[in-house]
Amino acid sequence: MKKKEKAKADACDDVPHLAEERKELLQRLAREEGTPIFVIDHAKLRKNYQEFKKHLPQVQAYFAVKANSNPEIVKTLFKAGASFDVASMPEFMIVYENIREMPAKERQDWIWDKIIYANTIKPIETLETLDQYKPLVTFDNCEELKKIRKHAPHAGLVLRIRVPNTGSMVELSSKFGADPGQAVDLIAEAFALGLVVEGLSFHVGSQCTNFANYVEALEISANIIKETETRTGKKIRILDIGGGFPVKYHPEVKSFEVLAKKLKTEIARLFPDDMQILAEPGRFLVANACTVVAKVVGKAFRDGKPSYYINDGVYHTYSGQVFDHVLYPVLAFKEGEKQISAVFGPTCDAFDTITLSAELPELDINDLVYSENIGAYSHASSTYFNGFPPAKVVHTNK
Ligand SMILES: Cc1ncc(COP(=O)(O)O)c(C=O)c1O
Repeated sequence: MKKKEKAKADACDDVPHLAEERKELLQRLAREEGTPIFVIDHAKLRKNYQEFKKHLPQVQAYFAVKANSNPEIVKTLFKAGASFDVASMPEFMIVYENIREMPAKERQDWIWDKIIYANTIKPIETLETLDQYKPLVTFDNCEELKKIRKHAPHAGLVLRIRVPNTGSMVELSSKFGADPGQAVDLIAEAFALGLVVEGLSFHVGSQCTNFANYVEALEISANIIKETETRTGKKIRILDIGGGFPVKYHPEVKSFEVLAKKLKTEIARLFPDDMQILAEPGRFLVANACTVVAKVVGKAFRDGKPSYYINDGVYHTYSGQVFDHVLYPVLAFKEGEKQISAVFGPTCDAFDTITLSAELPELDINDLVYSENIGAYSHASSTYFNGFPPAKVVHTNK
């Protein structure tokens, strides 16, 4: 690439990259702690939360714990002001145990303010345990309503509706959400069963770069809320706009500020001022706050290119490449002329291939490599396959 073109490309590349100082720290941590390490930058977590609130001050952010359930992340985000979206009883307990001693406990309504159980499908045993906490829970079908009525009658309900997920990296609407045409019937049925529907929720799909999904979802929600009031006389006071807020993995992803402006305009146009707006950001809060550092444990020349075997892979921190459809470039700390190289994980499965086309300088056994922006849906879905444990978690700037 010519010098001028490269400068232009670099200027457009506002994907978050690590500063030199941070790279030195990571190498030192790898020497001290061993590898692989999954390094969490708590200053970045706080910054991400502040950015969310700066652009959407009227929206309460319920961090989607599934994106990264490390308890220290929960504590840091709680202190910053976040609430939490949980999808299972263990996630509920991670949040409950880590925040219950903190000041919000004084308030009667602290669970509702701080936790939403946002999995529309809940086992009966979960409902039975949850009921004592008088939780806020989502639902999207009739059978679930009957289960809630019987096993968690003290829950407050939020109906999740199905909205367009067009173009989102992770599609969710094929599995969750009531059809908008059935929404008012379901809400009426819940009230008829003696339950209380407090709100409406949706999810536009994860890593949603097509902002029209949000606009459509808000419009659909506003119509359902109006029709509910007309038909049942009941007021819906909570609107949960879900997750989906995209991370700048690539320069083409538009900034959060652009999306937030759109959301603010539409919310002001469609909803009364006293509507409580919630969101469930997952990746937006954690993705760029974490880095994995691994080391080269093997080296070969295969299919005409250098091939490196490192001690983390797609059964571990790089699992996001399978479940989350994100590719994390493998980078070297070492300088040198780059060649197209393959990078494999440590297990005995050929599926454990991180990339066949990394641009890397020549590496030796024990050299360190790293991947940035790997905080969401990565360590959370790490396995123990082949006896290799998940990467050790290391905290910085706590
Ligand atoms: C119900 C629910 N809320 C929130 C999230 C978080 O979404 P994201 O990480 O895209 O913000 C998810 C992700 O799957 C989800 O299923």
